[in-house]
Amino acid sequence: MAEPFVIAIDGPAGAGKGTLARRLADHFHLNLLDTGLSYRAVAHRMLQEDLPLDDPAAAEGTARNLDLGRLDRDVLSAHAVGEAASQVAVYPEVRRILVEKQRAFAATPPGAVLDGRDIGTVVCPDADVKLFVTASPEVRARRRLAEIEARHGTADLAQVLADIERRDTRDMGRADSPLRPADDAHLLDTSEMDIETAFLTARAIVEVALEGRDGI
Ligand code: C5P
Repeated sequence: MAEPFVIAIDGPAGAGKGTLARRLADHFHLNLLDTGLSYRAVAHRMLQEDLPLDDPAAAEGTARNLDLGRLDRDVLSAHAVGEAASQVAVYPEVRRILVEKQRAFAATPPGAVLDGRDIGTVVCPDADVKLFVTASPEVRARRRLAEIEARHGTADLAQVLADIERRDTRDMGRADSPLRPADDAHLLDTSEMDIETAFLTARAIVEVALEGRDGI
């Protein structure tokens, strides 16, 4: 059987990674893992159990008990959970535990699309395809606001933009596995692209990588 085929997608909050990852996984019949949900699940469990987010040992224990197969996107997608997730994501022990689980997922045939912040640099440095997806902070804030409103929530655009910028700073500035493109990543700026164009661009990149292989 062919080696698992892995597509790594990284980028900041709201760049369109999630939708792109889902479209690619559907098209190429690959497993799909949104690694942000794993950090969100740790933060959410801690909030539920009244554990302080600034306690690395509590975060580590929570991460160890996490089952990647049981992540509830609806509960975890709340805006506040994303903010809390980026706080627990700075702890090296939490990252080590979650990265191990993410690697096991990627190694499962036929392979997977993983999206996050450190997939191409740390989780799957040998991925067959690496994409780094960006968009301007203003465009990302408007997309996040539309997502919140689609779930019948309300938010203020200036507030969402401020949250996005704070999260970018924390994710790019942390010592362990900061958000950055891998040297061999393809850069995809989706500021002026709709999702269909982004998907077609990414699909073409993946097809080139597949040409050298005997299928997935
Ligand atoms: O992508 P999402 O907004 O769900 O991620 C929530 C937070 O989890 C991010 O802001 C980041 O701090 C953290 N994260 C990470 N590494 C990943 C995925 C997410 O540090 N691979």
